[in-house]
Amino acid sequence: MSNNEVMLPPAPAWQALARHYHQVKDMHLRQLFAADAERGERMVAEGAGLFLDYSKHRVTGETIDLLIKLAEASNLSERRAAMFRGDKINVTEQRAVLHVALRAPKGAQIMVDGANVVPEVHEVLERMEAFANRVRSGAWTGHTGKRIRNVINIGIGGSYLGPEMAYLALREYSDRALNFRFIANVDGAAFVEAVQGLDAQETLFVVSSKTFTTLETMANARTARAWLVDQLGNEAAVAKHFVAVSTNANEVQKFGIDTANMFGFWDWVGGRYSMDSAIGLSTMLAIGPENYRALLAGFRAMDEHFLEAPFAHNLPVLMALLTVWYNNFFGAETVAVLPYAQYLARFPAYLQQLQMESNGKSTDLQGQRITYQTGPVIWGEPGTDGQHSFYQLIHQGTKLIPCDFIGFAKPFNHLANHHDLLMANFFAQTEALAFGKTLEELEREGVAPAQRPFRIFDGNRPTSTILAEELTPFTLGALVALYEHNVFTQGVIWDIDSFDQWGVELGKVLASRIIPELESDKEPDLHHDSSTNALIRRYRRLRHAAR
Ligand code: F6P
Repeated sequence: MSNNEVMLPPAPAWQALARHYHQVKDMHLRQLFAADAERGERMVAEGAGLFLDYSKHRVTGETIDLLIKLAEASNLSERRAAMFRGDKINVTEQRAVLHVALRAPKGAQIMVDGANVVPEVHEVLERMEAFANRVRSGAWTGHTGKRIRNVINIGIGGSYLGPEMAYLALREYSDRALNFRFIANVDGAAFVEAVQGLDAQETLFVVSSKTFTTLETMANARTARAWLVDQLGNEAAVAKHFVAVSTNANEVQKFGIDTANMFGFWDWVGGRYSMDSAIGLSTMLAIGPENYRALLAGFRAMDEHFLEAPFAHNLPVLMALLTVWYNNFFGAETVAVLPYAQYLARFPAYLQQLQMESNGKSTDLQGQRITYQTGPVIWGEPGTDGQHSFYQLIHQGTKLIPCDFIGFAKPFNHLANHHDLLMANFFAQTEALAFGKTLEELEREGVAPAQRPFRIFDGNRPTSTILAEELTPFTLGALVALYEHNVFTQGVIWDIDSFDQWGVELGKVLASRIIPELESDKEPDLHHDSSTNALIRRYRRLRHAAR
């Protein structure tokens, strides 16, 4: 199992944990459970309808105490308060980080630059509700008077992953008379497949982009407009078939969407933290305003839990500390997120942006190069599919992969015994990962000696179990907020800005330089490295070769 000697910050709280790590690193979960009959009852926490069992982690009570001291030494309470009160904690962009204001109750007061932002949030929410009701009831019709049956969200990154994830997660709550599709990739295939078989007269495009300048989204939006005008033969049709979600009214107007059909948000909402802003318009169209309010209530319940629960009982704090424990001490490089819910199929993809765009940083808040490990790679697939694919490596491979198992007690679909089969696997996997199978057990079972080395499971593979009653809008809100605050807490401990994303810029700039080189009729003068030059020439040759 990997156990790289990783660099750590010099602060005493880190060094105390390093000493402790050397004492406990070889302890086995079999020992820890044998020594403490109450462990599975005790190492749990609950908040906002979510139950967390962290007993199957390679920690003792002392580990948790020391991790909490690390959180305290990192000024987590103060940093959390700063976020909730609207301080500009996104220091490299000088912006407040206020996704929590998106679900604040109507009477709340959160000030940014001297103004309370909460009334604006509710104003937009009410406009979204009025619009969603008109579309869902058929009062809003397309250009030819037909009611809307298809909604296509055009957006990428945070303007796509949240809406698609939430739509799939809450399909049981959605109006099945409406079709929802999502276009993100600039690959024309995404557009072509999304509009396949759709009647333009019944199709509404929601162009979602915080900046309204993102290359992929604007290319897809222009293609959508051309398709619609071509199908309906009238430029005026755009008004009834396009709405925008953005912070940039100027660009929305320039594109040709009336700002009366624009739903705004603000620079203090990061793209990957925006699924409960107006970016959630497609979600609201799908599940209706009332369910959307329940989603917001779930977010809010987790915000309150994060603010109020002591660190030792605080779900996002505990989960963040456990990630730090494996990431910075055991040298674990990844975290797997394994929802035992088909409806959460896109949850891992959503979390990839949330976590990796937030914490994939190597400069600290003081501008110094970081020498310790920061954000892990996040990946995953729904169980039980993953069991027949990559779980082999988690069980018997050489890498340590902490896993988050997410499951629900109540199914939507009462199909025979499917749900119990699903959940039996859910429980079995964390048990197998923790306790494995010993040589003695194999002997007792009469496994042939030659087979035994291959059939040993070391166990001691750490997992968190998150169990909730049912996947409802409320639960989904709580779950997303759990990970938002988990990511925030990790960022505080690593002393990084979790809310900028400069790492995305370089590729964007280089691509804009290459576009004319690919499109030019003449052989371009290329000034890249020899690999990039040769690849561009080869691409041009292949692209323009006769079929
Ligand atoms: O990938 C970079 C990024 O800026 C993300 O942070 C953001 O969610 C995405 O692009 C889309 O940006 P926009 O909503 O402005 O189109």
